[in-house]
Amino acid sequence: QDPRIPKISSAIRVIPNFPKPGIMFQDITTLLLDTKAFSDTIDLFVERYKGQNISVVAGIEARGFIFGPPIALAIGAKFVPMRKPNKLPGEVISEEYSLEYGKDKMEMHVGAVQAGERALIIDDLVATGGTLSAAIRLLGKRVGVHIVECACVIELSGLKGRERLGDTPLFVLVNSA
Ligand code: PRP
Ligand code: MG
Repeated sequence: QDPRIPKISSAIRVIPNFPKPGIMFQDITTLLLDTKAFSDTIDLFVERYKGQNISVVAGIEARGFIFGPPIALAIGAKFVPMRKPNKLPGEVISEEYSLEYGKDKMEMHVGAVQAGERALIIDDLVATGGTLSAAIRLLGKRVGVHIVECACVIELSGLKGRERLGDTPLFVLVNSA
C-alpha cells in the first residue's frame, strides 16, 4: 500500500447517524482541510491515470466535483459534470438510479463527450454502487464512451457496490468496511 494512504484515511471524519440513523457518514470535508492529504489524494489518482490517453474526466455531483477537476487538469483531460436533475441548461441525457438513502437521476449535456472517447469516472465514495452504475450506463452504454475505470476516494466494501459495475474496473484509495 502507498505510504500516503494512512494519512488520507485518517483525515476522513466519520459521523454516525447522518443523514439518517444507521448511516456512518464519511465526511471528506476534513480531508479538504488537510492540504498535504488532499494533494496526496489528487496525486495518487494523477499518477495512476496520466499517460493513459484519457480525454474525459466525468465527475458526479456533488462531491465528485471536488476531486474530478484537479485530476482532469493534471492529466490534460476535459472535465464533464454529471449533474442532479434540472440543473443543466442545455440538451441533456439522463439516467435514473437508486441511492443508499433515496432515489435520484443523473444528467449530462449532450455533445460534451463523443462515442469512442476514453473516460475516467470520479466520485468521492462508492456505497451501493447505484450512482457509479448509472454513470457507466449513461456514458458507456448510451453515449458509447470507453470507460477506463471508476475511481473513488472511499469504498464501503460491505455494501458490495463493486459487484454492480459489471466489467468496469473500480479503483479506490481507502476501504471502509
Ligand atoms: C453520495 C456519494 C456518492 C453516492 C454513493 O452522494 O457522494 O455519490 O452517494 O452512493 P451509492 O454507491 O450507494 O450510489 P449523494 O448523492 O448522497 O450526495 P452528494 O450530492 O453530496 O455527493
Ligand atoms: Mg455524491
